Amino acid sequence: MISDTNEIIEKVLIDEDSLNVRIKKLASQINDHYKDEDTLIMVAILKGSVMFMAELAKHIKLDINLEFMAVSSYDSGTISSGNVKILKDLDTDIKDKNVLLVEDIIDTGHTLLKLRNNLEKRDPKDIKIVTLLDKPERREVDIKPDWYGFKIPNEFVVGFGLDYDQKYRNLPYIGILKRSVYEG
Ligand code: XMP
Ligand code: MG
Repeated sequence: MISDTNEIIEKVLIDEDSLNVRIKKLASQINDHYKDEDTLIMVAILKGSVMFMAELAKHIKLDINLEFMAVSSYDSGTISSGNVKILKDLDTDIKDKNVLLVEDIIDTGHTLLKLRNNLEKRDPKDIKIVTLLDKPERREVDIKPDWYGFKIPNEFVVGFGLDYDQKYRNLPYIGILKRSVYEG
């Protein structure tokens, strides 16, 4: 059983209703942007983006292809741009296709920048980025999402796909993790 959430969660930052309302709004902006296109390849970065991808995709009004990629988290030694360790690659060719990268959260931005550089080499028609959460204070490289759900302060958050040590992804809201969980 999941531990008592009062012991894990400092505070609920974004509740379930607010997430759903905002994601629908994002989908409508994305629909407007691609209104003259027929197809879109949505690429979720495993595992954190799975819930966001599922909720967003329900409201997209194009023929979409759902794709998943897994990349290794960067370490301080990996500075070379365009270099990202791909643990699971796309199942499809993105040449001349519209690609929408679906992220859970942009923090320093290193992961996404490297991933985008990697995908750009495959000659897609276009690559755009949508992230549910953005921690702009933490940014170390120049990358901006085309659409974002919420800007959040520099706190460690879990839920709606986001984990601490692979746990709490199944919480239906975004909550700030109590410091005692990772400091205690
Ligand atoms: P970058 O490369 O932008 O990495 O620094 C983004 C990735 O870092 C993880 N991350 C978090 N995961 N709560 C989480 O559960 C957070 O508050 C958080 N901040 C960053 C996440 O995997 C994201 O894809
Ligand atoms: Mg992630």
